Amino acid sequence: RTGARVERLPLSRFTTLGVGGEAEVWFVESHEQLAEAMEQPYRILGGGSNLVIADEGVPERVIRLSGPLAERDLTPDPALSDDTWVVTGWVGGGVPLPGLIRQLQKLGLSGLEGTVGIPAQVGGAVWMNAGTRYGEMFDGLHTLEIVTPEGTRQVTPDDLNWGYRDSGIPRNHIVTRVRLRLRRAAPEEVLAKMDFADQARKGQPKMKTPGCAFKNPGGVSAGKLIDEAGLKGSRVGNALIAPEHANFIVNLGGASAADVHALLALIRDRVPVPMELEYELWP
Ligand code: FAD
Ligand code: EPU
Repeated sequence: RTGARVERLPLSRFTTLGVGGEAEVWFVESHEQLAEAMEQPYRILGGGSNLVIADEGVPERVIRLSGPLAERDLTPDPALSDDTWVVTGWVGGGVPLPGLIRQLQKLGLSGLEGTVGIPAQVGGAVWMNAGTRYGEMFDGLHTLEIVTPEGTRQVTPDDLNWGYRDSGIPRNHIVTRVRLRLRRAAPEEVLAKMDFADQARKGQPKMKTPGCAFKNPGGVSAGKLIDEAGLKGSRVGNALIAPEHANFIVNLGGASAADVHALLALIRDRVPVPMELEYELWP
C-alpha cells in the first residue's frame, strides 16, 4: 500500500448541489498513490460543481487530488518568462480555482480572470475548459500533465482538440497539474476585468446548484430557451428550475438525484432545440 487515505463517505458533502450517496473516496497526495488508486475502476472528483450524483452513490473508487497535488507554485520560470509573459511552476489539479484567481489578480498576472466565480478545482475546470463569455481555462495554459492507468504524459494546448466547454481530454484521464502562461498586468487592471466578468453572475441563483444544466446550443443561451418554454419555477420534489435563470437547477433542501433527472427530462421534452447536457450524471 502506498498510504493513500481511503474513506467511505457521502458524496453529497463534496458537491455544490448537495446530492449523492456513498462511495469509497481515495485522497491521493502523490503520483504513486494515484497509480494505486487507478488499479481498480475509478472516477475523478474535482470541486463537485458540475455533478449530479445518484442517491445510491457509485461503485467505483472516487479519487480526490490532495496534499501536494492541491498545491501551487506560481514562481515565474526564468527560462520561459520575460517582461510581458510569465510561465509559472506547477499548479495542482486539486487547487480550488476561486482562490487561485484571486491570487493571480494580486500578483498582476492576467489571462484567467474571466473564469471568476466558477467554484471548481483547477483539474476539473481544465478538463471541461470551464469559462464564461469573458474567458476560459485554455486562455492561460502552458503545459498540462495527464495521468492514465497507462502512464503520465505532458501535453500543450496545441496537442488537444479543445473548444467551448471541452478540453478534448478523454474522460478519466486525470489532469494532475498544469503550468500557466499569463500576461503581466497591473493588479488594478486584472481586478477591473474580474469585476466586469462577475457582473454577468448577478442574475444567477445563490442556492445549492451544479451551475448551468445545458451547454448553449450554437451560442444561443440555453437559459433563454428554457425560459421561453415557460419552465422557470418548475418543481419536482425538492429540485427547482431557478426563477432567476432557467438554465440553473437548484436544490431547495433534501432534493434527490431523481428529482433533478426528472427536471432535465422535462426540459428536453419541452425545448424545441436539441441541447447538450453540461451537467455530468454519476452513474
Ligand atoms: P467536478 O464537478 O468535480 O467534475 C466534473 C467533471 O470533471 C467530471 O467528469 C470529473 O470526473 C472531471 N474532473 C474533475 N477533476 C478532474 C481532473 N483533475 N482531471 C480530469 N477530470 C477531472 N462552469 C462554467 O464553465 N462556467 C461558469 O460560469 C460556471 N458557473 C458556475 C456557477 C455555479 C454556482 C456552479 C455551482 C457551477 C458553475 N459552473 C460553471 C460549472 C462548474 O463549476 C464547471 O463545470 C467546473 O469545470 C467543474 O469543475 P469541478 O472541479 O467542480 O469538477
Ligand atoms: N436569459 C433569459 N432567461 C433566462 C436566462 C437567460 O432570458 O432564464 C437571457 C438573458 O436575459 C440574457 C441571455 O439570455 O439576455 C444570456 O444570459 P446570461 O448572460 O445569463 O448568459 P448564459 O449564456 O445564459 C453563460 C454561461 C454561464 C456563465 C454566463 C456568464 C453557458 C451554458 N452558460 O450563460 O456559465 O456564467 O454565461 O458568462 O455557457 C455554466 O457553464 O455552468 C455557467 C453558469
